[in-house]
Amino acid sequence: MSAPSSILLGVNVDHCATIRQARFREHPLDHGDEVEPDPVAFALLCEKAGADGITMHLREDRRHVQDSDVQRARAQIATRLNLEMACTPEMIAYALELKPDSVCLVPESREEVTTEGGLDISGQKSRVAEVVAAMTEAGIITSLFIDPDPAQIEVAAELKSPWIELHTGAYANAYYHAGRQRELDTLKAGADLAHGLGLTVNAGHGINYVNIEEVLSIPHLHELNIGHTIISRALFVGIEQAVREMKAYLC
Ligand code: PXP
Repeated sequence: MSAPSSILLGVNVDHCATIRQARFREHPLDHGDEVEPDPVAFALLCEKAGADGITMHLREDRRHVQDSDVQRARAQIATRLNLEMACTPEMIAYALELKPDSVCLVPESREEVTTEGGLDISGQKSRVAEVVAAMTEAGIITSLFIDPDPAQIEVAAELKSPWIELHTGAYANAYYHAGRQRELDTLKAGADLAHGLGLTVNAGHGINYVNIEEVLSIPHLHELNIGHTIISRALFVGIEQAVREMKAYLC
């Protein structure tokens, strides 16, 4: 199975910062150049290997990516910087100042290890509509990270979000279980619906080198945002090789 046409690869480098924070959370400034690994240097290697964009999630608790990482990435990244963020006044102001190429609104809770569910946009329509309008005005593309739920997809179109990112986590979790086909069918139907409503369809979360071929059967994909599996593979083969291997599936 191969991709019907070239799909863009956004690499999420958060977990490079996770490794750094595991050692340097407390006293980063005391260690000078020893503060490693640098997620921005890592992002530049991803670009060199063919990544079409770099994603960073600046979480409220700053558990991995730090403000200075995002600012350096904005200055140095030559492809596209996608800032994942919570839909809060603080982050909205931050994004308008930083001017990433796109923002992806995600739910955030301090307890979760990583983003665990799509954003409920039906429950906060006016807030999300304001963000979409403000970002559009500033020339920043908004993407909404939502479950492949028809109700959420219809609201995304109603709010005039240019992009959505379909949450593939439920599918990825079901990969070795009975619900796999059902979750895949839900993603396919969601992508069809979204495309029909004029939305650009991205997808992400839990996509890896094993499930990628089946993920590519989802129609209308514009970009996949992939992090954990690429960072994990990079430990064995280096980040450039890891990106090239994933990119080869998408071309
Ligand atoms: N897309 C979004 C919105 C995410 O929050 C994440 C990280 O949780 C990803 C994509 C990448 O997921 P993964 O690290 O599982 O590839």
